[in-house]
Amino acid sequence: MVSMSSIKKIPGIKKYLTNSPKETLRLGKRIAQWLRPDDILFLSGELGSGKTTLTRGICQGLGIRETITSSSFVIVSQYQGRMKVSHIDLYRLKESDCTGLPVEEYYMAGGITIIEWADRFPQFLHRIVPGIYISMRITKPDQREIIIEDLRN
Ligand SMILES: Nc1ncnc2c1ncn2[C@@H]1O[C@H](COP(=O)(O)OP(=O)(O)OP(=O)(O)O)[C@@H](O)[C@H]1O
Ligand SMILES: [Mg+2]
Repeated sequence: MVSMSSIKKIPGIKKYLTNSPKETLRLGKRIAQWLRPDDILFLSGELGSGKTTLTRGICQGLGIRETITSSSFVIVSQYQGRMKVSHIDLYRLKESDCTGLPVEEYYMAGGITIIEWADRFPQFLHRIVPGIYISMRITKPDQREIIIEDLRN
């Protein structure tokens, strides 16, 4: 495990442990520093593992002032910061629904796309699309293991 203080860049695969929502927010802000136009982030992890919290941190890091809500009832929300962000939440969709979903149409051209529950979409599960793949796991009530794989081109 690497501690929060060792986060400087994201080469290959990195594992982080956060011990509070605040630390997860902070990790999100750090991730934001490494994002470039057209990047896509694929977030996977059980209910309550912190996907939306991390998304909030990323958005704050991109200078978005709006409150990021857990968009369980909305598939796509868009925000404007230093770059535009498209926040996609596939929670409501079963895998069969996802297969036909034209998710590419929701990608933010020239901006950042963040997809929650990406593992519900087969092509993301198999890491076919280049991007940053983030898996989150509840390890203790207030602790999250966050694995980041940078598979961008
Ligand atoms: N280290 C931590 N990092 C992030 N969240 C934490 C942490 N410890 C506790 N929590 C709590 O876990 C919950 C995470 O909720 P969040 O909505 O971010 O998860 P999610 O993965 O988006 O959930 P969902 O599957 O419903 O979309 C919050 O209630 C938060 O306060
Ligand atoms: Mg969520």
